[in-house]
Amino acid sequence: MVEANNTTVTLQVHRFTPRAERAERARGGSPFARKSSPFGGGSDSAARRRPRGKQWVQEYTIPARPEDTILDCLLTIKRTVDPTLAFRYSCGHGMCGSDAVAINGTPTLLCTASIRDWAKQPGALPQVDEEGFRHIGEDESMSDASSNSDATDASSADGTSLGVIELAPLPGFPPQRDLIADIDPMLNQIRKLTPYLQADGVLATTDEGKVNAFEYLQHPEQLAKYETLSNCIACGVCEGSCPVFAGGDAFIGPAALIWSSRFINDSRDTKAMERMDAIDTADGVAACQSVRACSRHCPRGIDVGEEMWQIVAKVRER
Ligand code: SF4
Ligand code: FES
Repeated sequence: MVEANNTTVTLQVHRFTPRAERAERARGGSPFARKSSPFGGGSDSAARRRPRGKQWVQEYTIPARPEDTILDCLLTIKRTVDPTLAFRYSCGHGMCGSDAVAINGTPTLLCTASIRDWAKQPGALPQVDEEGFRHIGEDESMSDASSNSDATDASSADGTSLGVIELAPLPGFPPQRDLIADIDPMLNQIRKLTPYLQADGVLATTDEGKVNAFEYLQHPEQLAKYETLSNCIACGVCEGSCPVFAGGDAFIGPAALIWSSRFINDSRDTKAMERMDAIDTADGVAACQSVRACSRHCPRGIDVGEEMWQIVAKVRER
């Protein structure tokens, strides 16, 4: 934000501070800490999914313009109001996928979400109490719920409110702190499916006949079969939207299947059959219920539900 203005926005942020002993265990500080499997399962997995700690909702009202992104607003809060607020971002341009959260309950990226698109008038949002429960149709009694409402009152007195935006960590993943969710379960599932090219390269030679490098040649038509899939940035938005993935270990998730499909459709990859075997499991393609919620907000324009359908058909036909 570069210039002063009269308009303000109110962010209702779901905050979370984990219990100190959990943070200690996560660092491996205790010699008695149990070693959990990186792929989940067991009681450690359940505890990791529902970490304990302090939860509350905090309101921040700050000057903002309709064209500002919600990431801009959080950076302003972090720099000028509350340095303790935790959120994750990197590129700021929808390329890295590190800043997926739930905005007004919808998984999406902070850096591409503008105030103009997401701010609602206060009555349009469910009211959220101190413990994070959403109450629909109760407005006056809930207005005291936030623990930092002084800023709201002061700012709205001399500015025009653009509205209210509710922010929570990405659903389907354990919260780590404030808006930061632990996306390791998704990354581990992607890693398990060997997300890299396994191909027999052809040695290319220079004009002098010397070996130059391995080449993996491909026609544009072959590239077109997976090019869109290769745009996945592993942001987790599709997983946060998927009601089956939210159940825990029952489904490896749409992002892992997108990565697998990307290599299955790559004409250079020699492991397509092994890749299909790896996802032809009860927690793989069989777990997808074709709800297609995963398609709605993919920031890279992938029709995830349609791709799920295609890969399910391909696995069954092989
Ligand atoms: S498919 Fe889309 S929504 Fe899902 S992880 Fe990849 S980029 Fe994100
Ligand atoms: S900060 Fe990189 S995608 Fe939003």
